[in-house]
Amino acid sequence: MWKALAGIAPALTVNLAPSHRDGLVLRSPVLTASGTFGFGDEYRDLVDLSRLGAIVTKTVTPEAREGNPTPRTVETPAGMLNSIGLPNPGVAGVLREKAPIWPELPCPVVVSVSAHDSTSWTALAGAFDGLPNVCAIEANLSCPNVAGGLDFSATPEAAAATVAAVLAGTELPVIAKLSPNAGDIRPIARAVEDAGAHAVSLINTIVGLVVDVERRRAFLGAGSGGVSGPAIRPVALRFVYEARQVVDVPIVGIGGIASTEDALQFLLAGAAAVQVGTATFRDPRTAETITDGLAAYARDHGLDLLQEIVGTAQPATEASAAEVDLEDVAVGEHVVAPDALEPAGGA
Ligand SMILES: Cc1cc2nc3c(=O)[nH]c(=O)nc-3n(C[C@H](O)[C@H](O)[C@H](O)COP(=O)(O)O)c2cc1C
Repeated sequence: MWKALAGIAPALTVNLAPSHRDGLVLRSPVLTASGTFGFGDEYRDLVDLSRLGAIVTKTVTPEAREGNPTPRTVETPAGMLNSIGLPNPGVAGVLREKAPIWPELPCPVVVSVSAHDSTSWTALAGAFDGLPNVCAIEANLSCPNVAGGLDFSATPEAAAATVAAVLAGTELPVIAKLSPNAGDIRPIARAVEDAGAHAVSLINTIVGLVVDVERRRAFLGAGSGGVSGPAIRPVALRFVYEARQVVDVPIVGIGGIASTEDALQFLLAGAAAVQVGTATFRDPRTAETITDGLAAYARDHGLDLLQEIVGTAQPATEASAAEVDLEDVAVGEHVVAPDALEPAGGA
């Protein structure tokens, strides 16, 4: 079992799994995003991990994976495109090579997992129970860069079945990481909550493409990839905002977060916590800096708990999320009708 360490700023404390028997109390709502922070040991000398809520590992699969052909990344406007293909040592390799380091890390570890059928989801999820300092499982239902990866959160039924398989294997809190590529997030978020997920994280990367004009073909070895970074932030925010309207479990916001203000936008939209991904490549200490910024914001605004602001940018509603009828929520109802826009107004 993992042990909560003394808080860095009590106002930042968050429980990411209030519906779990043990809860998931973290000292900061700032985590690192899967695939951008290795397995923890890679950054431990660069970042003060004791200031983070938790790290989320690279996604672990049942078998070792080599990953996709190179090139695997390319820069895009305000972001990057990647198709890494989940290279990792597989569950046996991770347990042998990575897990022994986790008890030494001064923050808890969320293990990201992805498998291919319900039996392997269950077995994989259970492989980390009881490991020191492992605090939760993040089920990556959403990787666009492996065959079938998207399928797990493409429909509410598939997402719910996968979460059920994960829960069957582990006693740890389960965070369901959803894909933005399925379209309307609300039925899927609702389905994974109903299936028992203790929290929802969103979003993974958005499928995109860069073409190499000299080679006259897709730039990445795998063809298309996933866009991440500031370019996707407004999209991610909208997903969090809409998901908050239909689920009660905590939401972890991910997508282009690079500053304290970015993180605050996600909290105000309805996320209880955030993950920092691509921004770590530019400055490994981004998550740490945001933690400090959030502590300063709480202090400057007289907040005993930063969680008081979560979702306060939502329109006022009397119904709890669980009571919202998805049939009554018109898709894109917040979008301003084109004829209501000023002509030639702004960029
Ligand atoms: C190079 C790279 C590798 C990634 N690998 C994973 C992964 O293994 N598992 C996963 O769930 N998400 C993975 N992601 C997605 C991130 O965790 C995150 O959801 C996404 O990049 C959006 O956040 P960001 O804009 O802050 O990067 C990866 C992203 C990048 C850029």
